[in-house]
Amino acid sequence: MIQNVKLDFKNSGIEEKEFMQYADEVAEAHDELHKKSKSKTEFLGWLEWPTKYDKKELEKIKKSAKKIQEDSEILLVIGIGGSYLGARAVIEALTHTFYNYLPQDKRKSPQILYVGNNLSPNYINDLIDLIGNKDLSINVISKSGTTTEPAIAFRIFRELLENKYGIKEARKRIYVTTDKKEGALKQIADEEDYTTFVIPANIGGRYSVLSPVGLLPIAVAGLDIEKLLEGAKFAEEKYSDKNLKYNDCYKYAIIRNLLYKDKKHIEILVSYEPKLHYLIEWWKQLFGESEGKDGKGIYPTGAEFTTDLHSLGQYIQEGRRNLFETVINIKESATDIKIKTDEDNLDELNYLVNKGLDEVNKKAMEGTIEAHVEGGVPNMLITMDKLNEYNLGHLIYFFEKACAMSGTLLGVNPFNQPGVEKYKANMFKLLGKPEKKKVAEKAKKQIKSSKEGKRVKEPKEKKEEKEKEKKVAKRKPTKGKHEK
Ligand code: PA5
Repeated sequence: MIQNVKLDFKNSGIEEKEFMQYADEVAEAHDELHKKSKSKTEFLGWLEWPTKYDKKELEKIKKSAKKIQEDSEILLVIGIGGSYLGARAVIEALTHTFYNYLPQDKRKSPQILYVGNNLSPNYINDLIDLIGNKDLSINVISKSGTTTEPAIAFRIFRELLENKYGIKEARKRIYVTTDKKEGALKQIADEEDYTTFVIPANIGGRYSVLSPVGLLPIAVAGLDIEKLLEGAKFAEEKYSDKNLKYNDCYKYAIIRNLLYKDKKHIEILVSYEPKLHYLIEWWKQLFGESEGKDGKGIYPTGAEFTTDLHSLGQYIQEGRRNLFETVINIKESATDIKIKTDEDNLDELNYLVNKGLDEVNKKAMEGTIEAHVEGGVPNMLITMDKLNEYNLGHLIYFFEKACAMSGTLLGVNPFNQPGVEKYKANMFKLLGKPEKKKVAEKAKKQIKSSKEGKRVKEPKEKKEEKEKEKKVAKRKPTKGKHEK
């Protein structure tokens, strides 16, 4: 079988005979996950998604991506957590490191900017400055459709878009990715007749990057979303073997659990490629939200080497011994730089002449793994042949399935996130948000009446259109409203 993503656990301190004792438990958890995935009410829709995704929706995504590429200099992705991290992870991994800074003729597709993932007025005001007069489209992504951060950002940037283009044209530049039936965002999208993409009900936010959540922005960035799905499909087949002996994905899951039992409570995901910064962020959310509950779970964190060897390196080498590392190694760098000779050799680097910088990076990796393992930090190494759509689709699926298995073995529900609600409840109380019950009742009524064919508002009615245009005309300029 092709090994385009490979796990090496020889430095984990856990031997095969040790983890193979858990083979039955793993096989049982596998059966449970696959059985549950047949039910529409479990959050396991992602498990068979690479083979079963909606092909029509994919065509619609490609068509919209093309339109955005043609009429926009910027795509603004509005979303938080699972509603933006996956797209950003793939885009940043597979495009030019300085993609957004490149001139448009070199970039060939719109700049991709992100908002709605924090509540900083400075961030939003600075973004408005950056956007300036450029042509813009928005992809607002929220499964619940009620998350505060993206909802506020959408209100601000929808207004900006309507002021710039007028309501009619703005409608053609707003793309909504949300639940098929429920949520405030769905309701707005229906009223305004925005192009809408569906987040399958049985796919949770952090497992949704291969659904329209990730695919539309990724396609706008000029990447091949079919290759991404093909790689994930390959992984779906490869990791469908419940026999632990032949399943690297499950090996990663069980070894993590055994290290956790051995008081290694922190996992650092490490990369030597800055392009993987957001993949690490995506992974942190995936594992953090999936496993950190009921007083249990490995704390997932990330590091970028060699950069962080000059900040975190000291702690990793000699601090508390409650850590382990998982390193993502890209075997073949897309580009390289040969180190040239220098007559004076004052920097004493001539011993590197004719070596590629990638080789230096790899030696740094090998040397660091050796040092950290000797220092008491177990290591797992995940090697990808190359950084491309196919392999990244594979790696994404690898981590998703490993996470589901790992959480199941840990005895938690890897698909909920009850802890995320706590800060929201406090914040809403402090802000004086009206009670949820009343809002929910109102929303229910509206959904019911829209189902009965009595739309809450008729969006295309000329009269209403005029009213709205009038309202927009009266609005203060956006800049004045969100003054610094
Ligand atoms: O994994 C999850 O479900 C969460 O992290 C969500 O992605 C995040 O909270 C955003 O939620 P929503 O898409 O409903 O706005």
